[in-house]
Amino acid sequence: MEYRRHKDLRISEVGVGCYALSGAYGKKDVDEFKRMLRRAYELGVNFFDTAEAYGNAEKILGDAIKPFRSEVHVATKVGIRKGVEPNLSKSYVTAACEESLRRLDTDYIDLYQVHFDDPKTPVEETVEALEGLKAAGKIRHYGLGHLPAEKVKQYMSVGEVFSVLVELSAVATDARNKMLPLCRSKQVGVIAFSVTGRGLLTGRFKQHPEFEPQDIRNVDPLFRRERFESGLRVASELTNIGKRYGKTPAQVAIAWVLAQAGIICALCGPSTVAHLEENVGGSGWQLTDEDLARLEDLLEHEAAFVTEQQRVGIKEILSGRLPDEPHQAFSDLIYAIETAVSLDLTTEAEVLPTFKELYALRGKLDESSRSKLEEVQDRLRSLIGFVDGDTNP
Ligand SMILES: NC(=O)c1ccc[n+]([C@@H]2O[C@H](COP(=O)([O-])OP(=O)(O)OC[C@H]3O[C@@H](n4cnc5c(N)ncnc54)[C@H](OP(=O)(O)O)[C@@H]3O)[C@@H](O)[C@H]2O)c1
Repeated sequence: MEYRRHKDLRISEVGVGCYALSGAYGKKDVDEFKRMLRRAYELGVNFFDTAEAYGNAEKILGDAIKPFRSEVHVATKVGIRKGVEPNLSKSYVTAACEESLRRLDTDYIDLYQVHFDDPKTPVEETVEALEGLKAAGKIRHYGLGHLPAEKVKQYMSVGEVFSVLVELSAVATDARNKMLPLCRSKQVGVIAFSVTGRGLLTGRFKQHPEFEPQDIRNVDPLFRRERFESGLRVASELTNIGKRYGKTPAQVAIAWVLAQAGIICALCGPSTVAHLEENVGGSGWQLTDEDLARLEDLLEHEAAFVTEQQRVGIKEILSGRLPDEPHQAFSDLIYAIETAVSLDLTTEAEVLPTFKELYALRGKLDESSRSKLEEVQDRLRSLIGFVDGDTNP
């Protein structure tokens, strides 16, 4: 395992996250997960990420790393525990930190990250809370999670931000446009997550899989339509490249992330010892400039394909009749929102209230949801700029 230094921390190139313990990727075997965490430590992983929102994950992580706590870095996230309304008020952040410390069974958190934006709380108030926790020795550093770029800039101007979390893989490259350059310009570290493309880049999928009902990949745009189709082609190219180095596609996917300027850690989310052992092999070697350039050509070509198809996809979803099956209609609308944001057809701030309204239906979708789903479709049509399906977004 290779390490990267950022400020006073020396961080393993491959980090391990506990998101899977929230059930986001289906049911997991907790005993195997604990063995995986122990094995990660043995193989040199010293960066472990979790969140107050990941079910029982803080407790499971805290128990597993107790024997070697002082040798590893623990990152967790604050702002939302349950539900969909983030809270970054000073009182919430201060109390939530105590709760996380208790669940993690530790005296300090190495990196405390703002998980989601809370438009109701001024950035200054949240930073004051985080600085207070730092001064009290409860956290060593603070960083940012899923926040709009404008909010990230505000935090950077008010506080001493250690890092920003971004989704980054060969099938999710948007962060390279704005967030990576912004972080590099401010000497803020970038922690990449979903570096195996939620499994898509590991070569495990040959066609569209059947996920368990609660698996977020059922609604993840990465696993829908043209992005999934394109992702399979990228995974196949990673497999070909890997053969020349004696590496698996997952290892090439991780090495690609580590080759992007400004990355301090590539966070993956295995739930088995075997997957962990494979992913650790993403560190300790490099892709040649020639292979990086060849991949860049492929990604450019795929991006053009995806963008073109996405515009057609959004138009179809917003101007046509929604599918009768409510889960299918729900996934289509999530796809339209996330894709429209990524294409800059609307902003996160503009679409957030509609997204929340839609997301609140998750888990209770049935025939009676139809009118609500159609209302969301109408609202999106006006937000994203369609007039009777005529406007090309
Ligand atoms: N995803 C997010 O929205 C998000 C946001 C902020 C932070 N994070 C943090 O970043 C961490 C990593 O993100 P992620 O969990 O999305 O990463 P990821 O590794 O890209 O995705 C995890 C999925 O990929 C599969 N996988 C991983 N390695 C594999 C391998 N070698 N072979 C086959 N399948 C493999 C896992 O399957 P198995 O379970 O079968 O191993 C799991 O289904 C999270 O755990 C979390 O701590 C995530």
